[in-house]
Amino acid sequence: MEFNPEFIEQLKKAKSLLFFTGAGISAESGISTFRGKDGLWNKLKPEELASFDAFMKNPDLVWEWYQYRKDIVESTEPNPGHFAIAELEKYYNVNVVTQNVDNLHARAGSTNIEELHGSIVRNFCMDCNAFYNHQEFEFKNKVPRCKKCNGLIRPDVVWFGESLRGNAFPNGEKSAKQCDICFVVGTSAIVYPAAYIPLTAKQYGAYVVEINIEPTEFSSQANLSLWGKSGEILPEILSLVISGKK
Ligand code: APR
Repeated sequence: MEFNPEFIEQLKKAKSLLFFTGAGISAESGISTFRGKDGLWNKLKPEELASFDAFMKNPDLVWEWYQYRKDIVESTEPNPGHFAIAELEKYYNVNVVTQNVDNLHARAGSTNIEELHGSIVRNFCMDCNAFYNHQEFEFKNKVPRCKKCNGLIRPDVVWFGESLRGNAFPNGEKSAKQCDICFVVGTSAIVYPAAYIPLTAKQYGAYVVEINIEPTEFSSQANLSLWGKSGEILPEILSLVISGKK
């Protein structure tokens, strides 16, 4: 891929990179996206599987669905896109702010990760908030109970209609305000408040680069859009950096 001189110049000047990622970066690892052609939400109703009300109405069904997704995540590997981001830490201060719950950035070796929508490999008790990691559960199709208070255990993911938890969003905003280049990778960028992150980066003067297989609602905000698969484009950017020794 030919990269334009302005982008190469920005890479040379930059000290800190922010990667705002979505389901598209994990598509080449075999994990479905949500809204693309074969997106999950084209086949399944999020209100029946990914909401608090759905869990209260049918906890076993929701638990079983997340166990099914977790098994897929565990049977896949990070792809060259994830690894390239981790490798760029050798040349820049790199922050990853992801909407993904698949833990693949961490498995690829990235160290500064904010998980805006939680993680499918973590669970907690809805009553006493005790945390459980996923190996602790035997049943795939029956929602487990807390060993401490017998409360319902739920996956530590942010469901539709729920607020983001912890400091992931404020930390993500901080990285957005400080980054020199913000890469918007594999996301439709329509789910808020997550989608404020790249807008904040742009507002604070970052050079914004979109990487996607097709245009999105965010494309008009980007300084540069690179069309193609992130698992192919990100390794090329890494080679560019290595060859230019930045
Ligand atoms: N490389 C780059 N981009 C890709 C690739 C790929 N190999 N494959 C798909 N894409 C792009 C699609 O074109 C689409 O724009 O990735 C994007 C995926 O968008 P969505 O399916 O909407 O996923 P995402 O933006 O992560 O969704 C945000 O919505 O359902 C909720 O909580 C869930 O975190 C998720 C949030």
